[in-house]
Amino acid sequence: MIYLDHAATTKLRADALQAMLPFLGEQFGNPSGLYAVGREAQGAVDSARETVASILGCRASEVVFTSGGTESINTAIRGIALAMQRAGAGGHVITSAIEHHAGLHAVQYLEERGFEVTEVGSDQAGRVDPAEIAAALRPDTVLVSVMLANNEVGTIQPVAEVAAMVRGFTNEQGHRALLHTDAVQAPGWLRIDVEALGVDALSLSAHKFGGPKGTGILYLRKATPFTPLLHGGGQEMQKRAGTENVAGIAGTAAALEAASLGVEERGRRVRALRERLREGILASVPGAVPNGCQVDCLPNNLNVSFPGVESDVLVGRLDAQGIAVSSGSACSNSTWEPSHVLMAMGVHIRQAVGSIRFSLGEETSGEEIDAVLAVLPGEVELARKASTPALSA
Ligand SMILES: Cc1ncc(COP(=O)(O)O)c(C=O)c1O
Repeated sequence: MIYLDHAATTKLRADALQAMLPFLGEQFGNPSGLYAVGREAQGAVDSARETVASILGCRASEVVFTSGGTESINTAIRGIALAMQRAGAGGHVITSAIEHHAGLHAVQYLEERGFEVTEVGSDQAGRVDPAEIAAALRPDTVLVSVMLANNEVGTIQPVAEVAAMVRGFTNEQGHRALLHTDAVQAPGWLRIDVEALGVDALSLSAHKFGGPKGTGILYLRKATPFTPLLHGGGQEMQKRAGTENVAGIAGTAAALEAASLGVEERGRRVRALRERLREGILASVPGAVPNGCQVDCLPNNLNVSFPGVESDVLVGRLDAQGIAVSSGSACSNSTWEPSHVLMAMGVHIRQAVGSIRFSLGEETSGEEIDAVLAVLPGEVELARKASTPALSA
């Protein structure tokens, strides 16, 4: 298999697996237990928290382990907005149209409960304009949530600039809005320093950087108004109830540590392969159009539209050749559902329904890229013939 869907998930790193194994075996204790095996488990969670904090540039007490990116994002958005509202700070939230559904739907949940929401757009590259966020800030704005890197087109968002705008705007009571970023796609490709970014909350998902599935990280700046999503025991400093996934937490920290090493060198190598793929596609597939990002993009992401093709058809054809890529759109009951990100970028619907995301990983090789380029033109041609005739009109 040639796996080019690393933005969807990644293989567990060997060091993450090693870090997890003891806690799937003899060291099975509950970290709340006051006896030896419990204390060992608590020690593993504490040490993982220290590791994560040193990588993100924060205090250990500001790191909360969760069940994944979706939970971290929901916890941050709902937890902060509701607490700010209860503190009388207001009920207005700002987000962008290109967020992952975890963020968009969490904000929608708030809207259904009476919050007012401003959704800023994006330019053709898939980039949010900080000035648009500054213009949307109101005295009753409690939360701004803007992702760090887009999962569909790889555009890196100007989060530090957004933070400067948000921090510079206080209302009459001296409140300022808080800033959350969904950084799920960043580890391994970008250095993540919460102080340099200037965020109050940041979400990560371990399986995107070689950690296990079902574990995540939420950075929550000290003294951030917050109400938990889950109610129960007092784990995770009262911020996330439930017995800790000790093996998952140990694997998450080990994976983040490995992903954080050699970011620049990994980026250079993978960017060169991505460019080889882009240039090869543009030279060999008539009509192919790259979507979005040209500068300030994740080095591993390439989103291309093949007009006249239904992307699901092409994904199926490539799968039959042993190549795993992701479709940028879905077709259900003969209705095209183009990506909300591409639509927000102003991509035409005919182009959007034929979009494919290639996302490379650190183990992707030049031979794999060449093997994809060898079969892609023929498969696009066959997919065009098998796609709805209206698409090629
Ligand atoms: C940018 C972004 N945010 C959030 C998520 C959700 O992460 P998870 O599915 O691990 O909960 C994803 C996963 O695709 C993502 O790419």
